[in-house]
Amino acid sequence: MKILVTGGAGYIGSHTCFELIKAGYEVVVVDNLSNSCIEPLKRIENLTKTNISFHKLDIRNKDELIKVFEKNLIDGVIHFAGLKAVGESIENPIKYYDNNVTGTITLLTVMKKYDCKMFVFSSSATVYGNPHQVQVKEDFPLSSVNPYGRSKLIIENILEDIFESEKLWRFALLRYFNPIGAHQSGLIGEDPNGIPNNLLPFISKVAIGQFNKLSVFGGDYDTPDGTAIRDYIHVVDLAKAHVKALDYLNSKPQILKINLGTGQGYSVLEIVKAFELASGRHIPYEIVCRRNGDAPAYYADPTYAIETLGWKAEYGLREMCEDTWRWQMTNPEGYPK
Ligand code: NAD
Ligand code: WQD
Repeated sequence: MKILVTGGAGYIGSHTCFELIKAGYEVVVVDNLSNSCIEPLKRIENLTKTNISFHKLDIRNKDELIKVFEKNLIDGVIHFAGLKAVGESIENPIKYYDNNVTGTITLLTVMKKYDCKMFVFSSSATVYGNPHQVQVKEDFPLSSVNPYGRSKLIIENILEDIFESEKLWRFALLRYFNPIGAHQSGLIGEDPNGIPNNLLPFISKVAIGQFNKLSVFGGDYDTPDGTAIRDYIHVVDLAKAHVKALDYLNSKPQILKINLGTGQGYSVLEIVKAFELASGRHIPYEIVCRRNGDAPAYYADPTYAIETLGWKAEYGLREMCEDTWRWQMTNPEGYPK
């Protein structure tokens, strides 16, 4: 089967391309490289001894997308292409709605034209807003607390409407919790531009000496150590869930909404300690004010993913930190630009 991976050069997309190839899928990647480069795809080609068909294009460019569908008989699409920086989305919502929502509509329009109706979407735990209970189930009320989150929620709603109108579609809406870690080879990993927004990339850059200390956002939450709790999931586990989702969608038309997390929450200070252990480096930190919009604590209820996909996260926090550290050590400046 041939799978189109949008945003396949990015962090989660590249790890998923690797797992798809390993599982025997043929992979076609489209990416405008706005937040990535071609290097991870070259490395995956080397690791897997396979060629990846790559097209540098923006998914909002319908004519270019059509050319890809003309050249390839695409059986399904995994849609990672999107912008993801919460702060930037607040400063520039039009950019986010245009890229994420318009991009997805263009992609779905072209898919429909070519009768390709299998679609796996990178959603996010952000669609739960500030959840009313810490362990989050798929049927919890949805809301959004910033334009990035709203773009994900809008796309989820669009997919529901499409399914309602035509029940032949096969949709998987995968709600990721906090993806971290890197491929065990040390060759592919997360390579953020500039100052990282997310916790793990920042910690690993403190460990390697690129930043002096970590600012811990909030030490007065109602949690055991006062810092916020999240469900961190290894990116390789996450990538494998996409392969399982495709296999499951193959069985029948449906719309699936699935949490992808481990079910285990860790506080910021627990992450700092685990990273110190994995790296053997001291991570200096300072507790500062809470970050606007951050919820105190939530983690996934992973039961539905186990029941439907037969998927469960295999890696624990130790592997997540060790693999991040291996990637950071072997690629201190990220991918060669
Ligand atoms: P990423 O930025 O590393 O990857 C996204 C890729 O999409 C990049 O390679 C980028 O160049 C490409 N892209 C963006 N807009 C595009 C466009 N208009 N046309 C073509 N390519 C485009 O991000 P990631 O962490 O791999 O995230 C992948 C997806 O998962 C995103 O949709 C993100 O919102 C979602 N997600 C990420 C997280 C996370 O914490 N990383 C959590 C939940 C959901
Ligand atoms: C984790 C914890 C911070 C950085 C974000 C998006 C979410 C999803 C995943 C895409 C929080 C604390 C962080 C730092 C810190 N993305 N922190 N110092 O905020 O849970 O989720 O990424 O869908 O939509 O909002 O992840 O890694 O930014 O933060 O103390 O320098 O670490 O306050 O408690 P978050 P994160």
